[in-house]
Amino acid sequence: MEIARSAASAGGAASPGDDRKRRAAVAALDGIVSGMKLGLGTGSTADQFVRALGEKVKGGLDVIGVPTSERTADLARSLGIRLATLEDEPVLDVTIDGADELDDQLRLVKGGGGALLREKIVATASRRMVVIADDSKLVAMIGAFPLPIEVAPFGLGATERAVERLASKLGLTGTVKLRLAGHDPYRTDGGHYIIDASFGRIPDPEALAAGLDLIPGVMGHGLFLGIASEAVIARQNDVIRLKPAGLQR
Ligand code: A5P
Repeated sequence: MEIARSAASAGGAASPGDDRKRRAAVAALDGIVSGMKLGLGTGSTADQFVRALGEKVKGGLDVIGVPTSERTADLARSLGIRLATLEDEPVLDVTIDGADELDDQLRLVKGGGGALLREKIVATASRRMVVIADDSKLVAMIGAFPLPIEVAPFGLGATERAVERLASKLGLTGTVKLRLAGHDPYRTDGGHYIIDASFGRIPDPEALAAGLDLIPGVMGHGLFLGIASEAVIARQNDVIRLKPAGLQR
Protein backbone atom coordinates (compact mmCIF):
# COMPACT_ATOMS: atom_id res chain seq x y z
CA MET A 1 0.00 0.00 0.00
CA GLU A 2 1.22 3.50 -0.78
CA ILE A 3 0.27 6.41 1.44
CA ALA A 4 0.47 10.11 0.54
CA ARG A 5 -0.53 12.89 2.90
CA SER A 6 -1.81 16.43 2.52
CA ALA A 7 -2.58 19.06 5.15
CA ALA A 8 -6.08 19.31 6.60
CA SER A 9 -8.22 22.29 5.70
CA ALA A 10 -9.96 24.21 8.47
CA GLY A 11 -12.98 22.39 9.89
CA GLY A 12 -16.53 23.79 9.82
CA ALA A 13 -19.35 23.72 12.35
CA ALA A 14 -20.40 20.19 11.35
CA SER A 15 -19.79 17.12 13.56
CA PRO A 16 -16.24 15.71 13.40
CA GLY A 17 -17.46 12.82 11.21
CA ASP A 18 -19.29 15.14 8.81
CA ASP A 19 -16.31 17.45 8.62
CA ARG A 20 -14.04 14.52 7.70
CA LYS A 21 -16.47 13.38 5.01
CA ARG A 22 -16.51 16.90 3.60
CA ARG A 23 -12.73 17.20 3.64
CA ALA A 24 -12.32 13.85 1.88
CA ALA A 25 -14.90 14.93 -0.70
CA VAL A 26 -13.23 18.29 -1.33
CA ALA A 27 -9.79 16.64 -1.64
CA ALA A 28 -11.21 14.29 -4.29
CA LEU A 29 -12.03 17.31 -6.48
CA ASP A 30 -8.29 17.61 -7.17
CA GLY A 31 -7.72 16.50 -10.73
CA ILE A 32 -11.34 16.90 -11.83
CA VAL A 33 -11.24 19.12 -14.92
CA SER A 34 -13.68 20.26 -17.58
CA GLY A 35 -14.57 17.64 -20.14
CA MET A 36 -14.53 14.75 -17.65
CA LYS A 37 -17.28 12.18 -17.35
CA LEU A 38 -17.82 11.29 -13.70
CA GLY A 39 -19.61 8.50 -11.88
CA LEU A 40 -21.39 10.03 -8.90
CA GLY A 41 -21.71 7.77 -5.86
CA THR A 42 -24.43 7.46 -3.26
CA GLY A 43 -24.42 8.11 0.49
CA SER A 44 -23.65 10.93 2.87
CA THR A 45 -19.98 11.22 1.83
CA ALA A 46 -20.81 11.04 -1.88
CA ASP A 47 -23.44 13.75 -1.25
CA GLN A 48 -20.66 15.98 0.06
CA PHE A 49 -18.71 15.40 -3.13
CA VAL A 50 -21.74 16.20 -5.30
CA ARG A 51 -22.32 19.41 -3.33
CA ALA A 52 -18.67 20.47 -3.71
CA LEU A 53 -18.82 19.58 -7.41
CA GLY A 54 -21.99 21.66 -7.76
CA GLU A 55 -20.08 24.70 -6.46
CA LYS A 56 -17.36 24.12 -9.07
CA VAL A 57 -19.96 23.74 -11.80
CA LYS A 58 -21.49 27.06 -10.78
CA GLY A 59 -17.99 28.50 -11.17
CA GLY A 60 -17.71 27.20 -14.74
CA LEU A 61 -16.45 23.59 -14.48
CA ASP A 62 -18.01 21.63 -17.33
CA VAL A 63 -18.43 17.94 -16.51
CA ILE A 64 -21.03 15.25 -17.07
CA GLY A 65 -22.18 13.05 -14.18
CA VAL A 66 -23.64 9.57 -14.23
CA PRO A 67 -25.49 9.08 -10.93
CA THR A 68 -25.57 5.74 -9.09
CA SER A 69 -29.02 6.30 -7.60
CA GLU A 70 -32.18 8.34 -8.01
CA ARG A 71 -31.25 10.11 -4.78
CA THR A 72 -27.91 11.27 -6.18
CA ALA A 73 -29.55 12.17 -9.50
CA ASP A 74 -32.03 14.45 -7.68
CA LEU A 75 -29.27 16.14 -5.69
CA ALA A 76 -26.99 16.63 -8.71
CA ARG A 77 -29.83 17.97 -10.83
CA SER A 78 -30.79 20.45 -8.11
CA LEU A 79 -27.20 21.76 -8.19
CA GLY A 80 -27.14 22.22 -11.95
CA ILE A 81 -24.79 19.31 -12.70
CA ARG A 82 -25.31 17.93 -16.21
CA LEU A 83 -26.36 14.26 -16.08
CA ALA A 84 -26.18 11.34 -18.48
CA THR A 85 -26.72 7.58 -18.37
CA LEU A 86 -24.34 4.73 -19.18
CA GLU A 87 -26.28 4.33 -22.43
CA ASP A 88 -25.17 7.85 -23.41
CA GLU A 89 -21.69 7.57 -21.88
CA PRO A 90 -20.63 3.93 -21.45
CA VAL A 91 -17.03 4.78 -20.44
CA LEU A 92 -16.38 7.22 -17.59
CA ASP A 93 -13.13 8.85 -16.48
CA VAL A 94 -13.56 8.39 -12.76
CA THR A 95 -16.20 7.44 -10.22
CA ILE A 96 -16.10 9.05 -6.78
CA ASP A 97 -18.02 7.18 -4.11
CA GLY A 98 -18.08 6.41 -0.40
CA ALA A 99 -17.74 3.06 1.34
CA ASP A 100 -19.05 1.42 4.46
CA GLU A 101 -15.69 -0.25 5.16
CA LEU A 102 -12.35 -0.59 3.42
CA ASP A 103 -9.10 -2.35 4.21
CA ASP A 104 -5.55 -1.41 3.26
CA GLN A 105 -5.82 -3.36 -0.01
CA LEU A 106 -8.82 -1.16 -0.89
CA ARG A 107 -11.24 -4.04 -0.65
CA LEU A 108 -14.58 -2.38 0.06
CA VAL A 109 -17.91 -3.16 1.63
CA LYS A 110 -20.58 -0.96 0.06
CA GLY A 111 -24.33 -0.81 -0.07
CA GLY A 112 -25.38 0.51 3.31
CA GLY A 113 -27.34 3.11 1.37
CA GLY A 114 -28.85 0.45 -0.89
CA ALA A 115 -27.29 1.51 -4.20
CA LEU A 116 -24.64 -1.23 -4.46
CA LEU A 117 -25.57 -2.75 -7.81
CA ARG A 118 -25.72 0.55 -9.68
CA GLU A 119 -22.61 1.68 -7.82
CA LYS A 120 -20.68 -1.38 -8.99
CA ILE A 121 -21.92 -1.06 -12.57
CA VAL A 122 -20.90 2.61 -12.70
CA ALA A 123 -17.55 2.07 -10.92
CA THR A 124 -16.53 -0.74 -13.28
CA ALA A 125 -17.53 1.36 -16.29
CA SER A 126 -14.98 3.93 -15.08
CA ARG A 127 -11.26 4.04 -15.76
CA ARG A 128 -10.71 4.82 -12.08
CA MET A 129 -12.67 4.65 -8.85
CA VAL A 130 -11.77 6.98 -6.00
CA VAL A 131 -13.20 6.13 -2.59
CA ILE A 132 -13.84 8.99 -0.20
CA ALA A 133 -14.27 8.31 3.50
CA ASP A 134 -13.61 9.40 7.02
CA ASP A 135 -11.03 7.32 8.85
CA SER A 136 -13.63 5.34 10.82
CA LYS A 137 -14.25 3.35 7.62
CA LEU A 138 -10.66 2.07 7.35
CA VAL A 139 -10.48 -1.31 9.11
CA ALA A 140 -7.96 -4.12 9.55
CA MET A 141 -10.48 -6.70 8.29
CA ILE A 142 -13.78 -6.02 6.56
CA GLY A 143 -16.99 -7.69 7.74
CA ALA A 144 -18.04 -5.88 10.92
CA PHE A 145 -20.40 -3.84 8.74
CA PRO A 146 -23.18 -6.21 7.58
CA LEU A 147 -22.56 -7.14 3.95
CA PRO A 148 -25.43 -5.96 1.70
CA ILE A 149 -26.48 -8.52 -0.91
CA GLU A 150 -28.97 -7.40 -3.56
CA VAL A 151 -31.36 -10.23 -4.48
CA ALA A 152 -34.27 -10.86 -6.80
CA PRO A 153 -37.61 -10.87 -4.98
CA PHE A 154 -38.46 -14.10 -6.84
CA GLY A 155 -37.12 -17.08 -4.92
CA LEU A 156 -36.06 -15.02 -1.90
CA GLY A 157 -36.19 -17.98 0.53
CA ALA A 158 -34.09 -20.19 -1.73
CA THR A 159 -31.54 -17.41 -2.28
CA GLU A 160 -31.26 -16.80 1.46
CA ARG A 161 -30.63 -20.52 2.00
CA ALA A 162 -28.01 -20.56 -0.73
CA VAL A 163 -26.22 -17.60 0.89
CA GLU A 164 -26.33 -19.33 4.27
CA ARG A 165 -24.96 -22.57 2.78
CA LEU A 166 -22.13 -20.67 1.13
CA ALA A 167 -21.32 -18.85 4.37
CA SER A 168 -21.23 -22.07 6.32
CA LYS A 169 -18.99 -23.71 3.68
CA LEU A 170 -16.57 -20.79 4.11
CA GLY A 171 -16.71 -21.03 7.91
CA LEU A 172 -18.59 -17.73 8.27
CA THR A 173 -21.16 -17.46 11.03
CA GLY A 174 -23.78 -14.82 11.60
CA THR A 175 -27.25 -13.81 10.58
CA VAL A 176 -28.71 -13.03 7.17
CA LYS A 177 -31.59 -10.53 7.42
CA LEU A 178 -33.95 -9.09 4.86
CA ARG A 179 -33.66 -5.27 4.92
CA LEU A 180 -36.97 -3.60 5.70
CA ALA A 181 -38.43 -0.16 5.03
CA GLY A 182 -41.08 0.04 7.72
CA HIS A 183 -43.01 -3.24 7.55
CA ASP A 184 -42.20 -3.92 3.90
CA PRO A 185 -39.03 -5.19 2.28
CA TYR A 186 -36.71 -2.37 1.25
CA ARG A 187 -36.59 -2.01 -2.55
CA THR A 188 -33.55 -0.80 -4.46
CA ASP A 189 -33.84 1.61 -7.38
CA GLY A 190 -33.80 -1.51 -9.57
CA GLY A 191 -36.75 -3.06 -7.66
CA HIS A 192 -34.67 -5.73 -5.90
CA TYR A 193 -34.52 -6.67 -2.21
CA ILE A 194 -31.42 -6.48 0.00
CA ILE A 195 -30.31 -9.03 2.55
CA ASP A 196 -27.71 -7.89 5.07
CA ALA A 197 -25.26 -10.59 6.12
CA SER A 198 -23.67 -9.96 9.53
CA PHE A 199 -20.57 -12.15 9.51
CA GLY A 200 -18.51 -9.98 11.86
CA ARG A 201 -15.34 -10.65 9.88
CA ILE A 202 -14.66 -11.76 6.32
CA PRO A 203 -11.13 -13.24 6.21
CA ASP A 204 -11.38 -14.31 2.55
CA PRO A 205 -13.53 -11.75 0.67
CA GLU A 206 -12.45 -13.16 -2.73
CA ALA A 207 -13.86 -16.62 -1.91
CA LEU A 208 -17.11 -15.12 -0.62
CA ALA A 209 -17.48 -12.86 -3.67
CA ALA A 210 -16.80 -15.76 -6.06
CA GLY A 211 -19.44 -17.88 -4.31
CA LEU A 212 -22.04 -15.11 -4.25
CA ASP A 213 -21.46 -14.44 -7.96
CA LEU A 214 -22.59 -18.03 -8.64
CA ILE A 215 -25.96 -17.78 -6.84
CA PRO A 216 -28.58 -17.01 -9.51
CA GLY A 217 -30.86 -14.97 -7.22
CA VAL A 218 -27.98 -12.67 -6.21
CA MET A 219 -28.12 -9.57 -8.41
CA GLY A 220 -25.05 -8.03 -6.83
CA HIS A 221 -23.17 -7.78 -3.55
CA GLY A 222 -21.36 -5.10 -1.64
CA LEU A 223 -17.87 -6.60 -1.93
CA PHE A 224 -15.93 -4.33 -4.30
CA LEU A 225 -12.66 -6.16 -4.89
CA GLY A 226 -9.95 -4.88 -7.22
CA ILE A 227 -12.21 -2.00 -8.28
CA ALA A 228 -11.01 1.01 -6.25
CA SER A 229 -7.92 2.74 -7.63
CA GLU A 230 -7.40 5.10 -4.72
CA ALA A 231 -8.92 6.06 -1.37
CA VAL A 232 -8.99 9.59 0.01
CA ILE A 233 -9.32 9.28 3.77
CA ALA A 234 -9.85 12.28 6.03
CA ARG A 235 -8.44 11.97 9.53
CA GLN A 236 -8.56 14.44 12.41
CA ASN A 237 -5.61 16.51 11.20
CA ASP A 238 -4.92 15.51 7.62
CA VAL A 239 -6.13 13.75 4.51
CA ILE A 240 -4.28 10.65 3.31
CA ARG A 241 -4.40 8.96 -0.07
CA LEU A 242 -4.09 5.18 -0.24
CA LYS A 243 -3.31 3.16 -3.32
CA PRO A 244 -3.23 -0.61 -3.42
CA ALA A 245 0.23 -1.74 -4.53
CA GLY A 246 0.25 -3.24 -8.01
CA LEU A 247 -3.28 -2.29 -9.02
CA GLN A 248 -3.47 -1.45 -12.71
CA ARG A 249 -6.69 0.63 -12.84
C1 A5P B 1 -24.58 3.38 -0.83
O1 A5P B 1 -25.25 2.29 -1.36
C2 A5P B 1 -23.34 2.94 -0.14
O2 A5P B 1 -22.52 2.08 -0.87
C3 A5P B 1 -22.55 4.12 0.36
O3 A5P B 1 -21.59 4.54 -0.55
C4 A5P B 1 -21.86 3.73 1.57
O4 A5P B 1 -22.87 3.19 2.37
C5 A5P B 1 -21.20 4.89 2.31
O5 A5P B 1 -22.18 5.75 2.78
P1 A5P B 1 -21.86 6.93 3.75
O6 A5P B 1 -20.96 7.84 3.01
O7 A5P B 1 -23.20 7.57 4.03
O8 A5P B 1 -21.24 6.36 4.97
